Amino acid sequence: MVKAKKFILDKSFAGAPKEDNFKLVEEQLGELKKGEILVEAIWISVDPYIRPYSNHVPAGTTVMGSQIAKVISSNNENFAEGQLVFCSTGWKTHSIINPSLLEKDIMPRFYALPNFGNLSSSLGLGVLGMPGNTALFGFLNICDPKPGETVVISAAAGAVGSHVGQIAKDLGCYVIGFAGSDDKVKWLKETLKFDAAFNYKTKDVTAALLEAAPQGVDCYFDNVGGEFSSAVIYRMNNSGRVSVCGSISSYNANTKELPKVPMLQPAIVFKQLKIEGFIVSRWGDKWMSGIERNLNLIKEGKLIYPEHITAGFENLPQAFMGMLKGENIGKALVKV
Ligand SMILES: NC(=O)c1ccc[n+]([C@@H]2O[C@H](COP(=O)([O-])OP(=O)(O)OC[C@H]3O[C@@H](n4cnc5c(N)ncnc54)[C@H](OP(=O)(O)O)[C@@H]3O)[C@@H](O)[C@H]2O)c1
Repeated sequence: MVKAKKFILDKSFAGAPKEDNFKLVEEQLGELKKGEILVEAIWISVDPYIRPYSNHVPAGTTVMGSQIAKVISSNNENFAEGQLVFCSTGWKTHSIINPSLLEKDIMPRFYALPNFGNLSSSLGLGVLGMPGNTALFGFLNICDPKPGETVVISAAAGAVGSHVGQIAKDLGCYVIGFAGSDDKVKWLKETLKFDAAFNYKTKDVTAALLEAAPQGVDCYFDNVGGEFSSAVIYRMNNSGRVSVCGSISSYNANTKELPKVPMLQPAIVFKQLKIEGFIVSRWGDKWMSGIERNLNLIKEGKLIYPEHITAGFENLPQAFMGMLKGENIGKALVKV
């Protein structure tokens, strides 16, 4: 019988997550019943959504999250030992799962990992998983970008943002990224070949856009929200499209006292903008085809997909807090 290690949310978050929000505990797992498999985590994802979604779970709950795990014992004829799976069992080293009893959710929460050839299985948490599908479906379906259009992306050096920018470049768009450090800006320009990039912490957003896009902005892929996004939206062209993917600038805020930002209605009305939020589960029925499309983009040499890897299960809280502070270029995750 296996003893699992897991992190629980010991105290609910208030403001930015701190070490004492998390507690490492052990859980004795039982014998496998018919239909069950025992999996061992190899990679665990740290994603921004964990911060706002944790507002809705009580203290004591296992910290939510997805992982790539290996089947180490099986009482299910469909899953042999050694099989790699994607599962959403939270920050746990070992889990017992009965695949057939899992609720059929709108977004796949458990599946045998597709064959990535000689690529790392960790990509199943990033470019070949949820963030990859977010970039692909959320950008193409909502921004509806056309060649030659100007596209702005916030949190542009992160997992989703860097992916969106590369799809936009491949389509022949003029791409402007904003990120939180000079190193990230350099990487966006030199490695991803963005047409322009700025450090939003040191450069005024309106001034940056007047400089890089005097012609105005057609598509905005919004990962951050807040004042930053109001400034971008006031630089949009007629019939511009905004895909509201995330609002990370508000995730640590008290939800009852959200920061106030310049009102958007004048820009929305007079420029006839389309602004649409989405959750990637909307494309749950196309999940595997999204992964396949992104895998093909990698094979065609059209995607660069860095990973920001923290070693050691015990360091999950540090990896998560570091990602929220912007320590990552590309996908932040933990190697167990
Ligand atoms: N709608 C959906 O279904 C969906 C799915 C996946 C992700 N998302 C959202 O997409 C966004 C990006 O997610 P990701 O997984 O790709 O994370 P990520 O961009 O890899 O990492 C988060 C990044 O956010 C930036 N950031 C943190 N605080 C910020 C602030 N106050 N203002 C501006 N930027 C800030 C940091 O970069 P800097 O150094 O640049 O500040 C950090 O590296 C998040 O908002 C996330 O919630 C939405």
